[in-house]
Amino acid sequence: MQEKIKVLLSEVEEFKAESKEQLEEFRIKLLGSKGKIKDLFADFKNVPNEEKKEVGQLINNLKVKTQAKFDEFKSSLAGEDSSLALDLDLSRTATPVELGSRHPISIVRNEIIDIFSRIGFTVSEGPEIEDDWHNFSALNFPPEHPARDMQDTFFVESEEGDIALRTHTSSVQVRIMENTKPPIRTLSPGRVYRNEAISARAHCFFHQVEGLYIAESVSFADLKQTLMYFAKEMFGEETKIRLRPSYFPFTEPSAEMDVSCSVCNSKGCNVCKYTGYLEIMGCGMVDPNVLENCGINSKKYTGFAFGMGVERIAMLKYKINDLRLFSENDVRFLEQFKSAF
Ligand code: DAH
Repeated sequence: MQEKIKVLLSEVEEFKAESKEQLEEFRIKLLGSKGKIKDLFADFKNVPNEEKKEVGQLINNLKVKTQAKFDEFKSSLAGEDSSLALDLDLSRTATPVELGSRHPISIVRNEIIDIFSRIGFTVSEGPEIEDDWHNFSALNFPPEHPARDMQDTFFVESEEGDIALRTHTSSVQVRIMENTKPPIRTLSPGRVYRNEAISARAHCFFHQVEGLYIAESVSFADLKQTLMYFAKEMFGEETKIRLRPSYFPFTEPSAEMDVSCSVCNSKGCNVCKYTGYLEIMGCGMVDPNVLENCGINSKKYTGFAFGMGVERIAMLKYKINDLRLFSENDVRFLEQFKSAF
């Protein structure tokens, strides 16, 4: 019997399974319910008592080794035909990573900044929650002045007094002038808020870019030339501009600037309402009162300011007819700007 066990043990030690079928044969032959090891245990009762201890150990050892051999091949064969191993193709083109795109408002804002930075404008920002002084009073809107009603304001309750969501980025002008010695040449992009019913043409928040240039002997001609440069860079070399007299408390004189309609080449269409021109911004010479409110000597310095709506420019540039699209985050809309920078 001991001889038999030794033969089986060396068989087990030399065994190598090359397939699952071979391994299964091995299992049935040795570990199965009618297998050789079972037979050995059955024959054990015939072993003389004095040999029982030694033979028992030999059979147990054989069983443990056989089981270990089986387990070893079971796991190595399982690894070999797993789908991962078979499907791995290192030369296959990877699944493309979907890149997001910039929001059209960011694209247009960046373009505006880029155009003005080429003629020396820096970028400055201010808070969206503003006090009355920076949003209104310093800009020459006295208390109770009807011009305050030009912009419907969201007031924020505060113990500090009149705090509101800024209605325009002109508030940043004030902060810059208060803290900087002229010459000043800066752009202030940002989000603004107005208490308006949301529709295709109005929203309770939108974006503006404010421009400010303060130095000695800045004239209206400088303003006009700067805005003409901007319009041609933004809408094309053929673009014409038109300045119409207007009113803002913080500029004197004030104007609104129109650009020729690129949709119909100024012939008249429903985009420009058959006028051939589209209004894109407000502008003017900074009122001396505003300069003085901000600690700038109005006898020595003059300057111009302008403010434009980013959504308005994006709508003209991309022919978008509903303001709400900008804030709905509909991927089908946003995806269309993938190729833009
Ligand atoms: N703040 C004005 C608005 O929101 C726009 C504006 C007009 C800004 C004239 C200016 C300016 O700097 O000079 O309607």
